[in-house]
Amino acid sequence: MPTSDIKTDEVRLVEYWSRIAPDFDAIYTGNKNPVSRALDRWLRKDIYERYAWVMRKAEEIKPASVCDVGCGSGRFVASLAKRGARVTGVDFAPDMLKLARQLTTSEGVSDRCEFVLSDILDWKTSDRFDMVIAIGFWDYVRDPIPRLEVIRNLTKRSFLSAWPRAGTVRMRIRNVRLKMAGCPVYFFHRNQIEEYLRRVGFRVESSEILGQLYCIQATPV
Ligand SMILES: C[S@@+](CC[C@H](N)C(=O)[O-])C[C@H]1O[C@@H](n2cnc3c(N)ncnc32)[C@H](O)[C@@H]1O
Repeated sequence: MPTSDIKTDEVRLVEYWSRIAPDFDAIYTGNKNPVSRALDRWLRKDIYERYAWVMRKAEEIKPASVCDVGCGSGRFVASLAKRGARVTGVDFAPDMLKLARQLTTSEGVSDRCEFVLSDILDWKTSDRFDMVIAIGFWDYVRDPIPRLEVIRNLTKRSFLSAWPRAGTVRMRIRNVRLKMAGCPVYFFHRNQIEEYLRRVGFRVESSEILGQLYCIQATPV
């Protein structure tokens, strides 16, 4: 894959996510008309399910520190900080981080939260975290290995990730819809994801299907 193609993906993604940041956050707040809200509850059910999955796992893991890769508007950051963790959110879309900062301030947890405006691939840090999450993130990553290697180095105890499943009917619809909106999107098979995780030095602890997603917990070996 030529580097120029990868860069093109990144530029398009930053533009796309900055443009739709408030609309994306409204999936969580329900701050939209009743028909759109009902459609979200039906067609985007797994967005709420993956959120509940992460919060359940966080109850078991009880992380003191968390890194949220592709943190978007900060919904996971704020909730995990409210449960007592110190949380770092990393995202390359400025408008998403603006919403995330506003949220953590209004929720009274900004003193436990930090935000980094960067592609995770370019983030230089020596920090390590009890728990790393990457949710709603892999959909937009053509080649997961380089970013998984970065994540492996950040992870002390547990890595939670949600991956869009290849081969579903919704995959085809989403593929057309997002590509028309200028957002590249990718889908994965379970064995392919597990192989990626093993290659970078994770052991898969659990792997479950939630709607259109594989939700996978892994630990460093
Ligand atoms: C679908 S949103 C998910 C946000 C949040 N994780 C959630 O589930 O509510 C995807 C986010 O990932 C960010 N993102 C995608 N690729 C990224 C990368 N390589 N580095 C940093 N952020 C990235 C986008 O800017 C966007 O905010």
